[in-house]
Amino acid sequence: MKKALITGITGQDGSYLAEFLLKKGYEVHGLVRRVSVDTLGRINHLKDKIILHHADLMDQFSITKVIKEVQPEEVYHLGAMSFVGTSWRQPVLTGEITGMGVGRILEAIRYENPKVRFYQASSSEMFGAAPAPQHEETKFHPRSPYGVAKVYAHHMVVNYRESFNLFACSGILFNHESERRGLEFVTRKISHAVARIKLGAQEVLELGNLYAKRDWGHAEDYVKAMWLMLQQEKPDDFVIATGETHSVKEFVDEAFKVVGMPLTWEGEGVHEVGKFQGKVVVRINPKYIRPAEVDHLCGDYSKAKKILKWEPAIKFSQLVERMVSADLENVRKELAYHRH
Ligand code: NAP
Ligand code: GDD
Repeated sequence: MKKALITGITGQDGSYLAEFLLKKGYEVHGLVRRVSVDTLGRINHLKDKIILHHADLMDQFSITKVIKEVQPEEVYHLGAMSFVGTSWRQPVLTGEITGMGVGRILEAIRYENPKVRFYQASSSEMFGAAPAPQHEETKFHPRSPYGVAKVYAHHMVVNYRESFNLFACSGILFNHESERRGLEFVTRKISHAVARIKLGAQEVLELGNLYAKRDWGHAEDYVKAMWLMLQQEKPDDFVIATGETHSVKEFVDEAFKVVGMPLTWEGEGVHEVGKFQGKVVVRINPKYIRPAEVDHLCGDYSKAKKILKWEPAIKFSQLVERMVSADLENVRKELAYHRH
């Protein structure tokens, strides 16, 4: 039985990857940090099948100890401060966790388990202002402290591969979402609000830039690509994307259509509003507009298609439909709970 260690196992991708690896017959270990609230919601259904270890990406000794004790064959490093908006409010902390965190893990591996196969969760946010379509050779131009931290982490992986011959790969993943996405990310913020508006629990959805474009896939498809990278003969870096791009506004339109509330739009700039049957249900709140924006992401995943034989299965409209339907169910349960 192969052993895998997942950092960030309590997050969106960590939960899907743990399910995927368990199905493949792996012994799955996860790294969790101590917090005062329960963060195991996404992996509660797996808790009897996985082994959890306490450590923090800020704490070198705790990471080294886990790597030494578990001796995994594969490490999937998904742990990070992953919300771009927060990275302007806590840039140094973001650098410590999202950037330096990978340095700490690589050091632990180099000394305690140099034969391990290592996956780094790199991000399309590293491309930032670079024109679309972006691929493995596109020059990075990050637009947020989070993007800058991911560029550091990415280059550390390349450097440790070249310096110490480690089997270390980076997956440059474009945005991927799901029913398990955190509520602060725009797709889940929209699907949750649309469900609440449909069920009469909320009146208006407030957003920032409606015109940013993203290449949105489903997390379930993307964790498979992570695993495929570690099964190759040689370590390498791969773009994982759908090759399709949509604006935030298109996501909003699609989500309202799922609940039978097609929108009409009026006004411009910060005064633009989305209406259903004459009533405003979407408006702009400037507090959600970022100090610098990534305008257009669209990934060219031909290298992954050719070498990993990977392709995304879930398309944009299916993604939106799944997220909104799941949130309708969640909100119905929440409302029923509060009524009783
Ligand atoms: P997520 O849901 O925000 O999960 C982040 C995980 O990191 C959580 O398990 C969190 O633990 C953990 N973490 C944060 N700070 C930590 C620390 N100091 N020590 C230990 N663990 C810590 O993110 P995700 O969407 O699953 O993304 C997974 C990875 O892929 C991240 O590195 C992200 O930056 C990267 N990525 C994501 C996307 C995307 O679109 N989803 C695209 C490209 C790259 P808690 O539960 O305790 O907070
Ligand atoms: N979060 C949020 N909230 N974003 C908004 C809002 C809002 O109210 N209104 C508009 N947006 C726009 C943002 O300005 C951005 O252009 C876009 O929606 C997507 O924002 P997020 O969903 O927060 O994701 P992200 O693209 O910044 O970052 C995600 O994808 C990266 C990969 O490209 C995260 O998952 C990162 O961890 C990941 O690396």
